Amino acid sequence: LVNTTKMVTEKCPLVFNVLAECETTKARVGKMCLPHSDVDTPVFMPVGTQGTLKGLLPDQIDSLGLQIMLSNTYHLGTRPGPEILEKAGGLHNFMNWHGSLLTDSGGFQMVSLLKLAEINEEGVKFQSLNDQKSEVMLTPEHSIHIQNAIGADIIMQLDDVIKTTSPDKDRIEVSVHRTTRWLDRCIKAHKNPNTQNIFPIVQGTLYPDLRELSAKDHVRRDVRGFAIGGLSGGESKDDFWKMVHLSTGLLPKDKPRYLMGVGFAMDLVVCSALGVDMFDCVFPTRTARFGCALTMTGQLNLRQKNYKKDFRPIDENCTCSTCKTYTRAYLHGIVTVQTVACHLLSVHNVAFQMRLMKTIRDSITNGTFPEFVQKYFLNLFPEKD
Ligand code: GUN
Ligand code: ZN
Repeated sequence: LVNTTKMVTEKCPLVFNVLAECETTKARVGKMCLPHSDVDTPVFMPVGTQGTLKGLLPDQIDSLGLQIMLSNTYHLGTRPGPEILEKAGGLHNFMNWHGSLLTDSGGFQMVSLLKLAEINEEGVKFQSLNDQKSEVMLTPEHSIHIQNAIGADIIMQLDDVIKTTSPDKDRIEVSVHRTTRWLDRCIKAHKNPNTQNIFPIVQGTLYPDLRELSAKDHVRRDVRGFAIGGLSGGESKDDFWKMVHLSTGLLPKDKPRYLMGVGFAMDLVVCSALGVDMFDCVFPTRTARFGCALTMTGQLNLRQKNYKKDFRPIDENCTCSTCKTYTRAYLHGIVTVQTVACHLLSVHNVAFQMRLMKTIRDSITNGTFPEFVQKYFLNLFPEKD
């Protein structure tokens, strides 16, 4: 095997090696070396919108063994803003995080957060988060300017995202071409190509011909990894998985593939089998704040009365500090006392995602991934006799 430690050089801030491939599926195990850390793939990246993981303290984050987390450009661009971030020496220093960071470009968050966002060739126009009266234009250049100030190891292009359920093929075709034009503007505006990697985003919603067009245009650019965007927005699992399969098939084998906004356990298993290397989603930490704990057999809503006298841990096989220390009955009792229960469930849910990804990687390496997938689904949907 290749010695992957510290192959990241001044000139190439991303080295990706595929270390094992499944013989039956498209799943692979890799090591991605980034300026701040090595990352074992397939990887799930928890989301810390403002430079914190919601519900987790820094010590708790350290104990979970994360190698990379995600942050959002527009939130950080508004507060603290690019000048403060530059003065602080970037977000890694500012938040005292020594692992790797990835930032999303901001447009998607605006379009999904604010119904009033308006997109034209120049960029994404929306009302300021701070001052409802003023309008702000997020252009590809502005997004990259903020992402350069943040200093994440991987930065994303600004893209024109269309809802997967949109029937307007003409508008979707415009978005595909515009996304490529914006990619070129982003690449041109990028000031730190020796320390930060920019990833293009494949769009095209559920139209195979448009996804193909988008992927082929992006593959021609000199970039070190690719993202698949515009999915998991209300389409059926069948449509969603088909588009992932199609997209990974169009992307080069020797570069990492990142499926944006996907984090349900079932999708992590299926999309790893389809050749995806990186995932992110707010789901595990968001659902923790609503009192839900993740397990291999589905979610436990700890607000439900049936946990009142349940003295088992959330998951007997989980080694997280919450499962080692507290019972479902205790968590049920405090779950409406926001902060403490929120911490305890966030620790468990992030630990669950990390453990699931490690199981996926280990089974690919051992050649037992197909058996793992079968066991996973039988566990989730037991056969009735
Ligand atoms: N997060 C989830 N999906 C997307 C997408 O299509 N584009 C961007 N920029 N972020 C996302
Ligand atoms: Zn646990």
